[in-house]
Amino acid sequence: MEIHLERKPAESVECDALVALAFEDQTDGRFQHLLSDVYGSGEITGKTFEMTLVHNPAGFKARRLLLAGAGKKEKFTSAELRHLSGAALRHLKSRSLKSIALLLDSEYSQADHVEAAVEGALIGDFEPDRYKSDKKDVKVVDRFTVAVPGGGAGLDTALERGRITADAQNLTRELASEPANLLTPSGMAEAARQAAAAYGLECDVLDQDRMKQLGMGSLLGVAQGSAEPPALIVVSYRPAGAAASGAHLGLVGKGVTFDTGGISIKPADGMEKMKYDMSGGAAVIGAIRALAQLKPPIPVTALIPAVENMPGSRAQRPGDIVTSLSGKTIEVINTDAEGRLILADALTYAKRLGCTHLVDAATLTGAVVVALGHVNIGAFSNNDRLAERVLDAAREAGEKMWRLPLDDEYRELLKSPFADIANVGGRPGGAITAAWFLREFADETPWVHLDIAGTAWLDDAKPYASKGPSGVGVRTFVNLAMDWKD
Ligand code: BES
Ligand code: ZN
Ligand code: ZN
Repeated sequence: MEIHLERKPAESVECDALVALAFEDQTDGRFQHLLSDVYGSGEITGKTFEMTLVHNPAGFKARRLLLAGAGKKEKFTSAELRHLSGAALRHLKSRSLKSIALLLDSEYSQADHVEAAVEGALIGDFEPDRYKSDKKDVKVVDRFTVAVPGGGAGLDTALERGRITADAQNLTRELASEPANLLTPSGMAEAARQAAAAYGLECDVLDQDRMKQLGMGSLLGVAQGSAEPPALIVVSYRPAGAAASGAHLGLVGKGVTFDTGGISIKPADGMEKMKYDMSGGAAVIGAIRALAQLKPPIPVTALIPAVENMPGSRAQRPGDIVTSLSGKTIEVINTDAEGRLILADALTYAKRLGCTHLVDAATLTGAVVVALGHVNIGAFSNNDRLAERVLDAAREAGEKMWRLPLDDEYRELLKSPFADIANVGGRPGGAITAAWFLREFADETPWVHLDIAGTAWLDDAKPYASKGPSGVGVRTFVNLAMDWKD
């Protein structure tokens, strides 16, 4: 889908359908004179995602006008615009229309609106249908235009930033929807290498031998049950002329290409979804690819510990004790709590590489789904300042996030009689004890953990996005790095 910006008057934009915002509380709609019949009939309420398609609007070059319900004006932000743009695109795409323009005039023609509109359209356009052989019903939108009559400077940059970010998010979704037979840890490494090579980034993939030499016993313990070799993928972005002493952001993403649970095996029902247990890693790959193009002022290193969690005669057992890269010993009580085990070594390694600030994303716990459902990402941190930055970045990105506590009392639950720490702390506060486990390895380094288990996969399609992987996290990561100030 080509993306364009048009600055000419709405009436002269040529397209199959021109989309205009229709607000609930807008009694003097700018198309009212033209569409008095439709308005008069009471068909248009402006309720969010209500779509009214009108053919051959008089005085317009557009062949159709789509009035897209935008809800209450005072609640309408870039986040709503992103969704509405996606919903309009999906509505028109399902009707086989090829060229779509979204009209943003007056107060909705700032850079962040243009960016959100482009992101929404590209995100809405994505379908995880790669392995469907029958493509005869597949519809393709060729052209999406943001129409900003008389729009100001800076909008081309905003358009480009939206395109780069959304393409990155769709790469993340592409990876997350890949089945585990086709996307192994080595496959993830290959995807990261490709993203890095395309935009001139360094990519280093640590194999099993190097990890053994370094002493990554925690990560390797998880990997040992699988015939698929593990990989610790490291992609680095360095801005031109960054001071060596400044901040260095480490983005760490859980890359479990399939989580059977290992010896603590999961029930069969729904296990097929565990192919998305690498969504955090995929988000980090997407984010670093976007950042390579957007060039933030801060060095960023992406780290993805990639493994497959399998049972078998070589698999680790409950009760096993492993020594992590940090030197801390871990009693593995439950082999299904594997994400924290691989992240522990990746966080330690990130610090060794010089990262001064760490943010990880992981489909870490079922417990976060119990706490926050499928709406908010669970955020945890040892540093209020970094937590605020991440929450701000998420707000700006329209990715909902809610901070959960890490009181010292929860740490008690991870005590092991035999090792420095146990890998599980029981059911109560399960998302918190998981985060506490990671905190032990982040130690004093400012760190934020994002538990995306409830938000990385949409069980049902939304008006603005297909069912399947959401690509959550990418936009927050991009904003965090782009807006960084020491
Ligand atoms: N990958 C799962 C977490 C998960 C659950 C992600 C549901 C997405 C949806 C993780 O590795 C896991 O199995 N966690 C266990 C931890 C428990 C054994 C302490 C869980 O949440 O049940
Ligand atoms: Zn697990
Ligand atoms: Zn897992």
